[in-house]
Formats: sequence, C-alpha cells, structure tokens
Amino acid sequence: MEEFAYRDGQLCCEETPLEAVAESWGTPTYVYSRRAILGTYEGYERALAGLPHLVCYAVKANGNLALLSLLAGAGAGADVVSGGELFRALRAGFDPQRIVFAGVGKTREEIREALKADVLCLNVESAAELAVVDEVARAEGVRARVAIRVNPDIDPQTHPYIATGLRTSKFGIAHDEALDIYRAAARLGGIEVVGVHMHIGSQLLKVSPIADALERVAELVQALRGEGFALRYVDIGGGLGIRYKDEAPPSHEEYVRALRRTLEALGVTVILEPGRSIVGNAGALLTRVLYRKRTGGRQFVVVDAAMNDLIRPSLYNAYHEILPVRKAAGPRETVDVVGPVCESGDFLAKERELPVLPEGALLALMSAGAYGFAMASNYNARPRPAEVLVAGERSALVRRRESYEDLLAGELLADDL
Ligand code: LLP
Repeated sequence: MEEFAYRDGQLCCEETPLEAVAESWGTPTYVYSRRAILGTYEGYERALAGLPHLVCYAVKANGNLALLSLLAGAGAGADVVSGGELFRALRAGFDPQRIVFAGVGKTREEIREALKADVLCLNVESAAELAVVDEVARAEGVRARVAIRVNPDIDPQTHPYIATGLRTSKFGIAHDEALDIYRAAARLGGIEVVGVHMHIGSQLLKVSPIADALERVAELVQALRGEGFALRYVDIGGGLGIRYKDEAPPSHEEYVRALRRTLEALGVTVILEPGRSIVGNAGALLTRVLYRKRTGGRQFVVVDAAMNDLIRPSLYNAYHEILPVRKAAGPRETVDVVGPVCESGDFLAKERELPVLPEGALLALMSAGAYGFAMASNYNARPRPAEVLVAGERSALVRRRESYEDLLAGELLADDL
C-alpha cells in the first residue's frame, strides 16, 4: 500500500491527491495505482526468474479493461472463468496462448469460444465436463489442450467461503480419482492432456498448505509420467494473501522459494493465477460522509458507498482499513460506517475507532482493488461507481460512473403480452 500515503496531510495515490480525484469524478469512486499493479506483477516475475513460468492474472479479481491491458502489455497472461472474462481478456490484448480457462460449470458455448480463441489450456473440473470438452472439440475439428483440476484435500486455513481445496468443496477432482480420469482423457480423440491444475483457496497467509498441496500434485505428475503422459504444465492456482489489517503474508520470494525445488524437479512450466495479490492493495474506494447519526447507543457514519459497491465486509465480514483523505488529528470515536442500502447487513466497518469525521469528509477504504468493483452490483438501483487509474501526478477515468439510463439498458416493457 506504499502507493497510497499522506503528503502534507493529504492522502495521495502515487503523486495524485485523492481529493482531486473526488473533485474530478465524484464519489464513490475506485482509484487504482498503476505503479502498484505493475510492481506486484513484476515482483512475481523477479521471484520466478530461472524457472519456466507463466503468470496468468486472475481476471475475476478486477476485470477493468485498462488494468487488463496494462498487465497484458507487461507480459502477463490471464486466468479466465467465463466467456465474459475471455471476451474481456481478448479485448484487452492478452495473447490467447497465455490464457487459461477455468471454472466448474463451463457451458458448451463457452468451451467453443475458448477453443475458437485457441487458448493455452482449459482447466477441467469433472468427468462430465471432460466428455463435453471432447465432444465440442471434435465438432470443431480440434484437440482441446486440457489440465485436470485436482483437489489435493489440503486445508488452506482461510475463510470457508474462499477455501477451495478441501475434499468437501465443489471444485476439482478428488486426488484418489485423478489417475482414472487422466486415463479416460487419454482415450478421447478431442483431448490433449497437457497439465495438472490446483487451487486451494484465496487470501492464503501461509505457504505450507500450498507446498503440501504441490507435493501431492507432484506425486500425481510422476505417476502420470510413469504411464506415458507428457505433462508440460503444473498450474498452482492463485491465492497468495495480502495485508488488509495486520496480516503478514509471505513475500513473492518466500512463496516461490517454498515451491521452487519441487517444480524444478518436475521440469514443467509452472502457471500461477494470482488475482488479489496483484491488484488488492493497488486500489482504494473513495467515499464521502453523508450524515452522522446516533441511535441505539451507537454512532453511525453514513457514507455514499454501500454494500453494492464493496460487498466484502457484508459477505465475509472482511476488514478494510479506513483512512480519512485529509489527515485528522483530534478526538477519536468508535463508529459503524454504513451505506445507504436498505439492509442491516449493509456496512463497511463495524465498531471501528476513527477520528471524528464531519459530514462531507472524504474517506478511503483501503485494499479494495481486488473483488471490489468486480463484485459490485446495482442493488437498490444504485449506479456502480467510477474507476480511475493513477500514474504519478496524472489520473484517467477508466470506467465512467453508471447513469440511470445504464440501469435500464436491456430492459423491455412487455407491452404486447
Ligand atoms: N484461480 C482460481 C481457480 C480461483 O478460484 C481463484 C479465486 C484465483 C485463481 C485467484 O485467487 P486470488 O489470487 O485472487 O486469491 N471474492 C473473494 C475471493 C474469491 C476467490 C475466488 N477464486 C474475496 O473477496 O475475498
């Protein structure tokens, strides 16, 4: 988060005061630092030096076209999980040979689109899906490159909603069934098996579960090689955590160091799918205090951003640091920061100690670059926020705020019903 810091008492993104951003584009607005995004991406590249690798940015974390094209330009690949994300990634200029397509429920149409685009690899999650990929590929007259997503049954020690590598989760194929599905895949004319995929969860703060999972995957790779499979890729998924409050996530170097020896021994190209760790700390959500309100013994600060703009606090009880844009000394108080949406679940922070914030004050919700705008909705008919990309002293609108007309786009009156 170094790219967000106070300069002369004013919170800035790089060299741009957030107050100026709010003046130009209003609030609520997501603000991203170009330097932070490129910095974390390059951190992966540096740590992976000497190891054949491909960093496929997880588009789901933040699919804004400007961010995607920035990462594509820097040489990243993309991890997509839907036809829509594939469309975005191609539009943003990612080389299809650097795109992997994952997801537990790909439709025939999405599979066809991925094959037409000639993406590097489809990550397949069930025997039923494998059969459909085979069928679609044969109909298209191609062989689909696939990796099977294996569920290593490792506890990633993270929030249950974002833990994916447990035996009971809906993702992947059970480790002990993996050999069978690979053998079945080898018999399918529309399938070319190229790799193994795993992803055990998100916001991981320890490398040991990832290293343990990789060990299990490595055993599988060796067993498959013994049966004649020529596997080129091991995709270890994403998941590296970030600091929201006082967490101490592993650095890129620590992460890669824990995996390097196993990967070197396998002699494969490693694919990574980081999302949060690339954009999470590179973004903040700018919002303005509308009202102060005291009721039921609690002090509420009502702001113009809500759960529809940033759902993580409501959905995961997630913590986002709140910084006043103008540095405030003086008295502090414990408040609930809430939005205008008609639900008690609409809060951005609970029982948070903050400087006393007057109406009109600007606040920044930090570490909102990942799964912020990406999960925003129009609930309560609220137009989604603007997005702004900052580079030094310059900033550019990379998504205009939605208008009321946008809210109605696509709706039809059933006049002739
Ligand atoms: N690869 C796969 C197969 C995934 O399922 C995910 C995330 C990623 C990569 C990227 O993971 P990351 O590096 O961003 O941790 N909405 C939640 C996070 C959901 C993550 C879903 N899968 C949140 O706001 O915390």
